[in-house]
Order: sequence, then C-alpha cells, then structure tokens
Amino acid sequence: MKKITEICCIGAGYVGGPTMSVIANQCPEINVTVVDINQQRIDDWNNTNLENLPIYEPGLKEIVAKNRNKNLFFSTEVDKAIDKAQMIFISVNTPTKTYGKGKGQAADLKYIELCARTIAEVAKDDKIVVEKSTLPVRTAQAIKSILDNTGKGVHFEILSNPEFLAEGTAIDDLINADRVLIGGNDSPTGQEAKDALSQVYENWIPKEKILQTNVWSSELSKLVANAFLAQRVSSINAISALCEKTDANVQEVSKAIGFDSRIGPKFLQASVGFGGSCFQKDILNLVYIARSYGLAEVADYWEQVIIMNDYQKRRFAENIVNTLYNTVSGKKIAMYGWAFKKDTNDTRESAAIYVADALLEEKAEIVVYDPKVSEDQIYADLDYLGSRSSSLTRELLKVVDDPIKATEQAHAVAIMTEWDEFKTFDWVKIFENMLKPAFLFDGRRLLETQKMEDIGFKYYKIGQS
Ligand code: UDX
Ligand code: ADP
Repeated sequence: MKKITEICCIGAGYVGGPTMSVIANQCPEINVTVVDINQQRIDDWNNTNLENLPIYEPGLKEIVAKNRNKNLFFSTEVDKAIDKAQMIFISVNTPTKTYGKGKGQAADLKYIELCARTIAEVAKDDKIVVEKSTLPVRTAQAIKSILDNTGKGVHFEILSNPEFLAEGTAIDDLINADRVLIGGNDSPTGQEAKDALSQVYENWIPKEKILQTNVWSSELSKLVANAFLAQRVSSINAISALCEKTDANVQEVSKAIGFDSRIGPKFLQASVGFGGSCFQKDILNLVYIARSYGLAEVADYWEQVIIMNDYQKRRFAENIVNTLYNTVSGKKIAMYGWAFKKDTNDTRESAAIYVADALLEEKAEIVVYDPKVSEDQIYADLDYLGSRSSSLTRELLKVVDDPIKATEQAHAVAIMTEWDEFKTFDWVKIFENMLKPAFLFDGRRLLETQKMEDIGFKYYKIGQS
C-alpha cells in the first residue's frame, strides 16, 4: 500500500480548516494543502496576524502558527493542489436547499458536485476522494458516478469520513477523538483506500478507535449521531417548559436523570434552543430521506426534534414580550451573545437570530454584544431571514463593543450564548444602568439566581419558575 504524503482539502471552512491543521500537526511527513475558491478566506488563513484567522476556535491559532508554510498550506490554486494530491478531502458547505424540490429540507449538493467535476477534470492519476462534509446518505454514490464517467481511465476510490468535531472544542475533539469513522467499498482497492486513511489517523489515534464500515453506514451514522444529540437537547428543553409551570428545577432534573449510567450526564443542558450548522440540517436530511422512502412515521418522529427546538426559541421571545407588559415597541433590549454556542464565531442557525427577529417584529430596539462575532455577520444573518428591509433592521438593531454601556436605559438584558466572560461582568453596574424594574432573561442558565435577585433584577432562567 502506498503511503500518503500529499493531501489536499477542498474547502477552508469550520470543518476543513481545523481538521487539516490538526492532520498537518500530527503528521509532519504529510504535506497538507487546503484550497478554497474564496480568496478573502484564504488571505485570512495566511494572515500574519493570527488574530485575523477566519475562524475562532481555542487552540487553533497556535497550531496554524506552528505548521503554516511548513507542511500546512492555504491556497486558491485548486487544480494544482488536486493534481499533486494522492488523497483529496471534500469539505465544502452543504446548506439546506432554499429552492426547488426538497426546499427547506434536502441538502443542496451543488458545491459537492462542482468539486467532483473539478476533480474529474484535473486528475491525471488514481486518487482517493474522501467526503468530509456532512452529507445525505448516498452522496458518495453521486460523487462516484461523476468521477467514473470522465473516460480518462483514472481510478477513484470514494471514502466517507464524517467529521464529529464540535465547534468551540474542535482541536481537542480532533486530537482526542472518541472515534474515527471510515466508510468505503469492500473491494480490494476499497480496502486499500480505507487502510491508507486509517494509517493517516493512526499517527495519533489508537487503532481500536478507528472504525471501518461500508459507505452507507458511515454516511448514515453521522446523521444519526447528530439526531440523537439534538434529540437529547430537545427532550430536556421540553422538560424545561414543564419545570417553568411547576416548582421543579430543570437543572436538578438533569442531574438526577444524568446520574443513571444508561442516560449519562452530557447534553442535558436546557437552553434557548440548539443552533449550529449540523443539528437542524442533519435531522432535516434524515426526515427527507425517510419521507422519500415512504416512512412517514419515521420522518415525523425525527421532525418533532426540530419542532420542539423552534418552540423553545419562540417561547423565549414570547416570554420577553409578555413579561415586558405585552409590548416591547421602542423598548431597549440588550442581547448578550450571538454565536450559537461559546468559543466560536460561527452563527449558523443560532437561536439569537430567531429571537432577535421575533423581537424586531415587535419593534423592539436591540443592542447586541458578542465577543467574537462581527457586526457584518449579525446584519447578514438577519438580512438572510428577510423579515424586513435591511435599512429597518439597521435602524432598530445596533451592534456594540462595550457590553456595559449597551445596557444604559435598557428595559431588559437577554443572555443568548454561554460565553464565560458574561459570568464575570459587573452585574451591579448593569443593574444601575437599566430602567426599573430591570429584567434579565437568561437563556443559558449562566448566572446564579440568588445573586441576581439580590442585586434587584427580575430574573428569568430557562427551566425555572
Ligand atoms: C455538533 C456535534 O456535537 C458534532 O459532533 C458534529 O460534528 C457537528 O454538530 P456543534 O454543532 O459544533 O457540533 O455543537 P454542539 O456542541 O453539538 O452544540 C449544538 C447546539 O446545541 C449548540 O447551540 C449548543 O448550545 C446546544 N446545546 C448543546 C444545548 O443547548 N444543550 C446541551 O446540553 C448541549
Ligand atoms: P463547514 O462548516 O462545512 O466547514 P463552511 O461554509 O465554513 O462550511 O466552509 C466551506 C468552504 O468551502 C467555504 O469557505 C467555501 O468557499 C468553500 N467552497 C465551496 N465550494 C467550493 C469549491 N467548489 N471549491 C473550493 N472551495 C469551495
């Protein structure tokens, strides 16, 4: 079996960037080139000021600094990198379709298809193509049929190697992975390709944690893993609504059930709703696939996880309006956090977007503070929803760098992301700044109830009456 020494990754985003940086770091004898069609993104990855990398992820800048331009390269020369590589990872985005058949549910595979066509056009010798993006089941087949019809006599072996990193902990998740999943054909060349990729990971992952499966199992496992995780969050969020109506405390319930070793303690943190680029998209893919095979009950079962998440976000926004005497029109509300979770600048599907949108519909004046998300991104997220003109959004919503000043004359503060720094803010000063009664809506259960009530806040915490 040929040892892999040249890897190319198409797509320098949240998955491709950190994953390739870690592979380069753990495998000094492999050259890793990450390519992207977005020139600005590549320039940012090559920026000498490491604070300007396009992605914020703890530990990432140190790894990039150590390996960049040694065996880790970022470039827009897609064709050249494909030509040189023995193994090509496809790590481009696969958003939910916004048009045509499967609109709002199916994954849009146009970027994947474009990659396959580019590889087919450029490749002059045999390649192993690895799908890394989260994809619906059977995408590998589509990639294969494009690649196999080039008529150039080049052999392509397609592997599925889904990414299980969570943003905010990506580097640790990659270095200390629970498992690595490699799906491929059972043919001799398929087995050889699976072993070649296993060997790359064996540089730092114990062999028993590297699982080999067929392609479909691997593709489906990724969707199912995310569906199970999201289901836990929706389950505890459903219980948080019940706790708010009774004297139960959702944290106590989480702890009590999490002690059961069959249930376990993780992913039972009630919140304003899950976000991120994977959970919703993957479940929608699962629902779409199930429905397309005529499995209506299976589709409905998983769809309920999304319905519960939408309910949770809506419930949080409605609670703010109801508590502020049924109107927020012209009232200033400071929102702390815009990212979908702490330690990332990613905002895809963030609950904050939907809550802000609902409050803007009620004509609230919103001031947003997030330590890592840019003003442009926040406006782009709201413009993408398209609920109102972008000029009206800019009139009603401001983005600030000073979180304390943001609360001057505010009626309420809403915590949307669990950034650690919010815990150490001067909450006494914030209270003094605000109009009275001063309302604090904690969508992340970040602060201590007693402490906030002692300061004088009317404090609402998800999952507590
Ligand atoms: C997820 C999977 O965890 C990862 O394995 C996969 O590769 C990609 O999708 P990610 O979306 O980066 O990762 O973040 P994750 O930590 O799973 O959180 C998703 C959302 O759920 C966040 O909005 C988070 O705040 C929320 N969440 C998570 C809760 O509300 N409560 C919890 O207990 C856990
Ligand atoms: P993910 O979270 O899956 O990594 P991102 O949107 O962060 O998604 O990153 C995907 C990257 O893939 C983007 O930077 C985008 O420009 C890039 N991309 C999309 N299509 C192509 C293509 N055909 N060739 C090269 N790069 C591409």
